[in-house]
Amino acid sequence: MSKPKVVLGVSGGIAAYKACELLRRLTESGHDVRVVPTASALHFVGAATWSALSGNPVSTEVWDDVHEVPHVRIGQQADLVVVAPATADTLARAAHGLADDLLTNTLLTARCPVVFAPAMHTEMWEHPATQENVATLRRRGAVVVEPAVGRLTGADTGKGRLPDPGEIFEVCRRVLARGASEPDLAGRHVVVSAGGTREPLDPVRFLGNRSSGKQGYALARTAAARGARVTLVAANTHLPDPAGVDVVRVGTAVQLREAVLKAAADADAVVMAAAVADFRPASYATGKIKKKDGQEPEPIALVRNPDVLAEVSADRARPGQVIVGFAAETDDVLANGRRKLARKGCDLLVVNEVGERKTFGAEETEAVVLAADGGETPVPHGPKEALAETVWDLVAARLG
Ligand code: CTP
Repeated sequence: MSKPKVVLGVSGGIAAYKACELLRRLTESGHDVRVVPTASALHFVGAATWSALSGNPVSTEVWDDVHEVPHVRIGQQADLVVVAPATADTLARAAHGLADDLLTNTLLTARCPVVFAPAMHTEMWEHPATQENVATLRRRGAVVVEPAVGRLTGADTGKGRLPDPGEIFEVCRRVLARGASEPDLAGRHVVVSAGGTREPLDPVRFLGNRSSGKQGYALARTAAARGARVTLVAANTHLPDPAGVDVVRVGTAVQLREAVLKAAADADAVVMAAAVADFRPASYATGKIKKKDGQEPEPIALVRNPDVLAEVSADRARPGQVIVGFAAETDDVLANGRRKLARKGCDLLVVNEVGERKTFGAEETEAVVLAADGGETPVPHGPKEALAETVWDLVAARLG
């Protein structure tokens, strides 16, 4: 089998050096990569670097190797085009269909999926001209990854950073795996909760759980690769921020509720993958709880936490909003799952069987997705990403 062909477009921004890492990831995972820099990109990283790392020739203009008609061939033969970093100028030229260099020609001839990873100063990103260009590219089916927030070229910080190259690679991998299918969540805002809440007892102790957040992160990554705007409400996770995803960090169930409700106000779907503590300590000791000589410990009194899933299901922020819950069950899995689905009032419930062998933090999972309309979709043992794709298939079908 021949290697999937990827065109890596690089435009002229300081983040061009990060594209070397993306190129490495792509070639090392078995992709044939052709780098097409813009002339300005070569001010930041030279052609020799791109050529040596990709093992392919590098040019910026349509006038090199004209007999091979590169301005048409490169785009036609590609399985994926990814532009990282995509500057405001490159986004504008792509949105307007200009064809004044090899990269823009390639973008016009490509019929494969296209991913843009913009990087620029916050003002340029927020400018209505850029926002309209991004909206145009998304409407035409491109995946435009939201820039990350953080340190920019100078001393300033804000939105506009190129996401981590490893995370852009993850977007590319998923978009390639989906082949020619359109990004079916484009224009949608989805909220995913992930991880496990911690309920503090005193300044050093908490009641928590073993959730790693991997399933929620897999849901966020797959939704972004399917074109959605994603808010990930992450409770106590230690995983890298997925590219293009707005991450809101929370600690407790009460904080998670607040963040989910706020993000859900304009969301098309809410997926509650977080393990939310059902109870919290009734009181919080502002000083460390000390043991007392010869005395048994005081019992810990607990109070109920709000049930976020039940609340978002009962008070849908907009008509047609799709709500998904997760349930971990040990026995009588399907019957318990059905009862929980009815009790929570959500549209879909992903039911995992947990047991001795099925540990939290694993890379793989197995589940059944129950639907309020009676549907039942088994998801065989496999990566958490496969379960995530099935969840979004079912959500996308309900969004219409
Ligand atoms: N959930 C929530 N708020 C809570 C507790 C749970 O939103 N306070 C959500 C989880 O994110 C998950 C689903 O509800 O989507 C899982 O519920 P679970 O805790 O298993 O259900 P319970 O109603 O607590 O049932 P059980 O009796 O099995 O504990």
